[in-house]
Amino acid sequence: ADYNSILVEQRDAVTLVTLNRPQALNALNSEVLRELIAAFAAYDADDGQRCLVLTGSEKAFAAGADIKEMSSQGFADMYASDFFAGWEKVTATRKPWIAAVSGFALGGGCEVAMMADFIIAGDNAKFGQPEIKLGVTPGMGGSQRLTLAVGKAKAMEMCLTGRMMNAEEAERAGLVARVVPAASLLDEALKTAAEIAAMPPLAAIAAKEMVNGTFEQSLSQGIRFERRLFHGLFGTADQKEGMAAFVEKRPGNWTGK
Ligand code: HXC
Repeated sequence: ADYNSILVEQRDAVTLVTLNRPQALNALNSEVLRELIAAFAAYDADDGQRCLVLTGSEKAFAAGADIKEMSSQGFADMYASDFFAGWEKVTATRKPWIAAVSGFALGGGCEVAMMADFIIAGDNAKFGQPEIKLGVTPGMGGSQRLTLAVGKAKAMEMCLTGRMMNAEEAERAGLVARVVPAASLLDEALKTAAEIAAMPPLAAIAAKEMVNGTFEQSLSQGIRFERRLFHGLFGTADQKEGMAAFVEKRPGNWTGK
């Protein structure tokens, strides 16, 4: 497919998507959203692709939703178009994906990073929800996902003051899975993605679905949901193969069946 604001390439079973609006620090406008929806849907539908990495530039993962595109909109415009609702198509991706964050991840940029299954951050990463300084608030799930990730105290402070969290604090607070030197961020993210891509694919989808279940339902429902998905995996060839391979002390050979 032909994209204008993102770059998409395949490296074996890993899809790499790079936000590419350097002139606007990768601010997320409607074109970026449209293209991301298409690229993520293509990834999800492609049996040969098993993990995806979303990244930006060294200076900015993304500096937010595009302020210039939003500035003149009124309530009726926002409500009528259900502005930002398209992001739910990105979060509906069933297969795993990682955000590799270097530089600024602010506002919508931070929110998109938090939509990923997990974040790997360069040591130069900066996360923030500065929307309050523009007279608005997070609008792409940030108030919910940030609070779930780092707890009320830090989430509230960040949303009320707009202060940024650096990579070290973000790791300590549980916002990011791992911090690596900025220069090796993409290599590390692609290596981790390749590791996930080599896993039995149905178990990966199930693991993602059940971890996400924590946030979408109560504990008792979540635990039952986990158990049912776990039971279901015993109907797959890869479960038979994985457990046989362990007993026979050899690597598993996954068919995705
Ligand atoms: C549109 C943006 C932008 C954005 C940067 N640019 N962020 N354009 N939307 N969110 C543009 C600038 O206007 C500028 O364009 C170019 O990118 C380079 O940015 P500079 O500001 O010159 O760079 P620098 O001085 O290095 O500062 C970097 C920065 C700053 C600290 C990240 O750009 C900044 O504060 N950006 C806004 C961050 C923010 O408020 N994000 C939240 C957005 S609201 P020109 O043409 O001048 O070169 C949001 C809402 C979500 O995400 C939901 C609520 C509705």
